Amino acid sequence: MEVVKTISEVRAIRQKLNGAVGFVPTMGYLHQGHLTLVKQARIENSAIIVSIYVNPTQFGPKEDFAAYPRDLDRDLGLLWGVGADIVFVPSDAEMYPPGFSSWVDVEKVTERLEGASRPGHFRGVATVVAKLFYIVQPTRAYFGQKDAQQVAVIKRMVADLNMGIEIVVVPTVRESDGLAMSSRNIYLNPEERQAATILFKALSVAKQLWQGGERDAEKIRRQMTALIQKEPLAQIDYVSIADAETLEELNSIERPAVASLAVRIGKTRLIDNMPLE
Ligand code: PAJ
Repeated sequence: MEVVKTISEVRAIRQKLNGAVGFVPTMGYLHQGHLTLVKQARIENSAIIVSIYVNPTQFGPKEDFAAYPRDLDRDLGLLWGVGADIVFVPSDAEMYPPGFSSWVDVEKVTERLEGASRPGHFRGVATVVAKLFYIVQPTRAYFGQKDAQQVAVIKRMVADLNMGIEIVVVPTVRESDGLAMSSRNIYLNPEERQAATILFKALSVAKQLWQGGERDAEKIRRQMTALIQKEPLAQIDYVSIADAETLEELNSIERPAVASLAVRIGKTRLIDNMPLE
């Protein structure tokens, strides 16, 4: 496994690779969710490139950029264990040199949900992922269903800008009690960690109702909301039943949909979702 810090090193290595290259972009502090992406990439490609970069441009001024957990040595050990070939760990100066002024703005799909709650977030995500795609030039790139709107944004960008990269979506990896694995779960104290199971419980209610034939999206949103409101430590940011591709809110669920939510548990904002398809 090679660990490289500069764009020119990645380019030099990439040029020598033959066959399919799988790419897994991350912000580090890796858990089994990230590692599952790498393992799947390992099966489907002849070389694997992983990036670790806490991208400042996707954090709002009041968000947790400075506090975001980081542990490079631990991450590198985990990546070695799952067979990553190249780990790209750029600095801010490498990614955003002085004078940087070009941005990727994906419209419409970014207006709702996370985009509405976190202005500028997806502009930062799309820009850094586009840059990483140009640097790494992967055959396939792997993203988690955990960030459903991020997947929709990246797919839109790849199609609109003719990037010719296959986007592979990997199901959400969960703890045994259903909580979606996230680098941010470390912020939760034991009481909050227990309360955080309310997200998966609410999504499970949505899935059960849908499987039972309920197609009225508002009825499902209401039941999810009522359940979360019973948890004193939880504060709802949004509860959504939306089209899986455009993320437009649905009245009636007649096409592939996704139930998603953002809930604050204490000071920690958690997101999760469940495909209804
Ligand atoms: P990060 O939050 O580190 O996540 C990296 C990838 O791991 C994303 O595709 C995310 O959806 C996936 N992932 C996280 N938790 C998961 C889980 N429990 N199960 C399955 N997959 C999971 O997402 C980002 O970083 C950044 O926005 C990035 C794309 C790297 C751009 O900066």
